[in-house]
Amino acid sequence: MPSNAQLIDGVALSRQLRTEVATRATALKARGITPGLAVVLVGENAASQVYVRNKVKACQESGLHSVLEQYPVSTPEDTLLARIDALNRDPAIHGILVQLPLPAHIDAQKVIEAISPAKDVDGFHVSSAGALMVGQAGFWPCTPYGCMKMLESIGYELKGKHAVVIGRSNIVGKPMALMLLQKNATVTICHSATVDLKAMTLQADVIVAAVGKLNVLTADMVKPGAVVIDVGMNRNAQGKLCGDVDFDGVRQVASHITPVPGGVGPMTITMLLVNTLEAAEKVALAA
Ligand code: GUN
Repeated sequence: MPSNAQLIDGVALSRQLRTEVATRATALKARGITPGLAVVLVGENAASQVYVRNKVKACQESGLHSVLEQYPVSTPEDTLLARIDALNRDPAIHGILVQLPLPAHIDAQKVIEAISPAKDVDGFHVSSAGALMVGQAGFWPCTPYGCMKMLESIGYELKGKHAVVIGRSNIVGKPMALMLLQKNATVTICHSATVDLKAMTLQADVIVAAVGKLNVLTADMVKPGAVVIDVGMNRNAQGKLCGDVDFDGVRQVASHITPVPGGVGPMTITMLLVNTLEAAEKVALAA
């Protein structure tokens, strides 16, 4: 049994990928196109404020143009839709991201559908989701895309492996399962109504935990040598940032594991930069 899993370092991998983004952004700028991202935040959600600040900062560090638009919590849906319409037509903006969650009076799916699919760098539009479903080119949601890059970074061959995804959200679980399937893994999606989660995870060669709950995955639920990707972002009783996985226990059993912090989190932002860059590159190709 492996006594200590190898860490998949999301910070180091991000550094490498962001260097490539910066190089490609410089090449685009030489052709007169600066990749631009608009980040839209409605309301005062503290976590969202941290996330959007990190996204804008990452853009600046990689040579991408970014604008942060902040609106009060009372903003009417129509106002937001009109703003998205303007961003869709703004040639300096190649990617539009509306930070979720939105206030309850706003229909989040309607807002997402208002974003032009060509600028949907979050990959949440039904057209992006549909493209992933049928294997066509389109923007992939950043978190599962980052998880795929982490598996790729350890040279992991998914073909014929059993991957268990815990969580079925539109943002992570469902697209994650489709990406793993596209690489010819056998995929099981587990969720809150799964009767015996442990029986499922014990069969897995790869486990992706994306629930948002502490200790969803413990060492007794993991087959020795499995690869474990932790998408969770939780605080424990001491206020420390933790994932969904009991890291200290599972690292004794797994062959590879992603830490929290320093794992999937930075990769999510990195893939947003990649998507924004590629949105701009498509515009450059069409010019
Ligand atoms: N809220 C939590 N995660 C995300 C994300 O990846 N994108 C957006 N837009 N909102 C989020």
